[in-house]
Amino acid sequence: HSMGAGNERLLAFNAVPKGLADVVTVPAGYKVEIIYALGDPILGGAAAFKNDGTDTDFDKRAGDHHDGMEWFGLDAGGKPSRNAVNRGLLAVNHEATTDEKLSSHFLHANGGKTSLPRPAAEVDKELMIHGLSVVEVAAAGGAWKYQPSSAFNRRITTMTEAVVHGPARGSAHLVTKFSPDATRCRGTLNNCGTGKTPWGTFVSGEENWYGYFFRDAKDDDKRGKKDPSVAGLQRYGRIAGAASRHGWESGGTADQYVRWNNSASGASARDDYRNEMNTFGYVVELDAYTQQPLRKRTGLGRFAHESVSFAKPVAGQPVVAYMGDDARGEYMYKFVSAAKWDAADANPADRLAAGDKYLDQGTLFAAKFKADGTGEWLELSLNNPFIAANPDFEFKTAADIAIFTRLAADAAGATKMDRPEWGGINPRTGEFYMSLTNNANRTVDGEMATDAANPRSYSDMKDGKESKGNVNGHIIRTAQATPAATAFKWDVYLFAAEADADKSLVNLSGLTDENDMSAPDGLAFSEATGLCWIQTDDSAYTDKTNCMLLAGMPGKVGDGGKKTLAYKRTDGSEKRIDTYVGRAATPATLKRFLVGPKDCEITGLCETPDGRALFINIQHPGETTKMADVNDPAKYTSQWPANAGYGAGKRPRSATIVITKIDGGRIGT
Ligand code: FEO
Ligand code: CA
Ligand code: CA
Ligand code: CA
Repeated sequence: HSMGAGNERLLAFNAVPKGLADVVTVPAGYKVEIIYALGDPILGGAAAFKNDGTDTDFDKRAGDHHDGMEWFGLDAGGKPSRNAVNRGLLAVNHEATTDEKLSSHFLHANGGKTSLPRPAAEVDKELMIHGLSVVEVAAAGGAWKYQPSSAFNRRITTMTEAVVHGPARGSAHLVTKFSPDATRCRGTLNNCGTGKTPWGTFVSGEENWYGYFFRDAKDDDKRGKKDPSVAGLQRYGRIAGAASRHGWESGGTADQYVRWNNSASGASARDDYRNEMNTFGYVVELDAYTQQPLRKRTGLGRFAHESVSFAKPVAGQPVVAYMGDDARGEYMYKFVSAAKWDAADANPADRLAAGDKYLDQGTLFAAKFKADGTGEWLELSLNNPFIAANPDFEFKTAADIAIFTRLAADAAGATKMDRPEWGGINPRTGEFYMSLTNNANRTVDGEMATDAANPRSYSDMKDGKESKGNVNGHIIRTAQATPAATAFKWDVYLFAAEADADKSLVNLSGLTDENDMSAPDGLAFSEATGLCWIQTDDSAYTDKTNCMLLAGMPGKVGDGGKKTLAYKRTDGSEKRIDTYVGRAATPATLKRFLVGPKDCEITGLCETPDGRALFINIQHPGETTKMADVNDPAKYTSQWPANAGYGAGKRPRSATIVITKIDGGRIGT
């Protein structure tokens, strides 16, 4: 299927060279427009963005660190449309902020306060700039623009009320002073990857939320060693006494600050916010077309969520979604709905009610990869004896599994992966792809020893500092007879590497100058062309190139073959690992399409249904700029998008861009 519509040939563009310029570079014949950046006003009352650290009202502006993003078409009359190609809504994640020592320096005039307590006015801005936005965009006269006064525009922040759905609703672990019956909560945080449901809603994964909470050093003792919440807090990275990322809990005595302190301070959970962290870590669902409250879909489990990839639904079969947990040694997951797909739900009257039907009851599974190239999805429920009779953590209900999902997957014996980031489903074959971005903790032997599915560990000398582990990451893929099947076959679609790296242990996919890369992260298939788009979030190859977007022809599981990696240990012995590598990635099957400005991650990808407009996000350009230099533009590591003529001020801004082909053709041809 290398031919597109008409005479279009996929990957006919010239590969964009690696580069360090502070600019977005695309192939000849393509055009880039910047359409929606941090601070742009989207709701009534917000003034034009000055971009000098004095702006306020971030609940009425585009948030920061644009990440995952999905397209929702509108017809000329403003009604939802699956075919619309020149008017639609973008639902955008605003994951985080560019920060140094507690403060998000580009948001504050002088860089902000870097010690505790944080000033309330600074915390208030930071609370409002995280979350989600919905913004209308439209093309007219050959130019795409965001629509600042569209009635569809919306912001969700860390404080927006949300409704708890699925097995964790009403659980004692979600009881807070705000919601003593554990049915409501506030906000969404660190939203990373996204997905689009078969019924036409937006889903977004809460990723590194745990870093935003504080617990005092004595909290474990206060709760008592037998309190299951202690094991839960620790397994999710909240060690008592560790500082929170921004010190929001220090902003004052109002509960918008106090809620970030998870210390048990009252007689019960109804008196304090000890359980507040348990209200984050889910997939949230939003209907981009309405202003209905956000729903936290706890049935999809709680971890460092990235994207949610829905398999193409089949009438009479369960709805299936694949997900990853982005931390070193964490797992890949899938959710299988209890309800069977009814094709009438592709266009339901109430989209979130369809979400209730398919996402609130179902079963979670975690992936186990075997050395023979097969694998198994392990059920995470009380039906699994390793979970029901687990000696380390007592699972009593489905809610416990939904809230402490990592502990359930530990008990089930899932395979520890090299940081599962985004996934995608090949629309032509139904095969599931997932980026494993890198893993500094992967070692040849030891607790996280190399295995068939995570076979690489090597050294990479950079700037005199040695990084080790799986330095550059890989993309794994699975093939299953039906989406709900528990058995699968797998191989590694792609091993990311520098072109000149060793071909026996590192550059196993045979990458060349046209397609070498490091740290695949964002991944999405085009429904229009079938291309697999791969985005990087790298810190290993950044001496030679900024982060990038590549287009791949997917092939299929098993199109390469077995490869043996032989590691020489220092004692002279050898460890051999067999793995399964997809066909070599030649420039005919994988090509670099875009290189971003300095110090950014390329992320968030969606398209118009005709494949002729591709929206992506440039996240945190200039992110290593020092706080001390916040008022000295000459010292910014990036001045994008100001240097491309977009907006006031020179502080770098995360932004959405749209790529079109000058001849009107499809993107990637
Ligand atoms: Fe937000 Fe794992 O990237
Ligand atoms: Ca990511
Ligand atoms: Ca990443
Ligand atoms: Ca990032």
